[in-house]
Amino acid sequence: AYVVTENCIKCKYQDCVEVCPVDCFYEGENFLVINPDECIDCGVCEPECPAEAIFPDSDDAAAAWAQANRDYAGIWPNITRKGEAPADADAWKGKPGKADLLSP
Ligand code: SF4
Ligand code: F3S
Repeated sequence: AYVVTENCIKCKYQDCVEVCPVDCFYEGENFLVINPDECIDCGVCEPECPAEAIFPDSDDAAAAWAQANRDYAGIWPNITRKGEAPADADAWKGKPGKADLLSP
């Protein structure tokens, strides 16, 4: 499965949700997750993310995010349409150390 990682936090561009054929994205306040059990591994969302936040969970760096994606997907609402990105999304793009800023 693919998962969303730290780069999404406070960027939340949501381009990813528009292309997912199985609508398996879930929305938090400043982060999105993929339900890895619903993802069919098509890979089309990965290049759509302007923040380069989406990776296969087989990637070492992404593996650490797999459990968070699974957990939040069980709590947060499903999202299938792109809404407004945060006004300061571009300022947070590519910033390191955002993991602690995730709003649960
Ligand atoms: Fe959806 Fe495909 Fe991305 Fe999985 S890889 S989240 S199925 S668009
Ligand atoms: Fe996040 Fe990228 Fe989607 S920033 S909301 S994973 S397009």
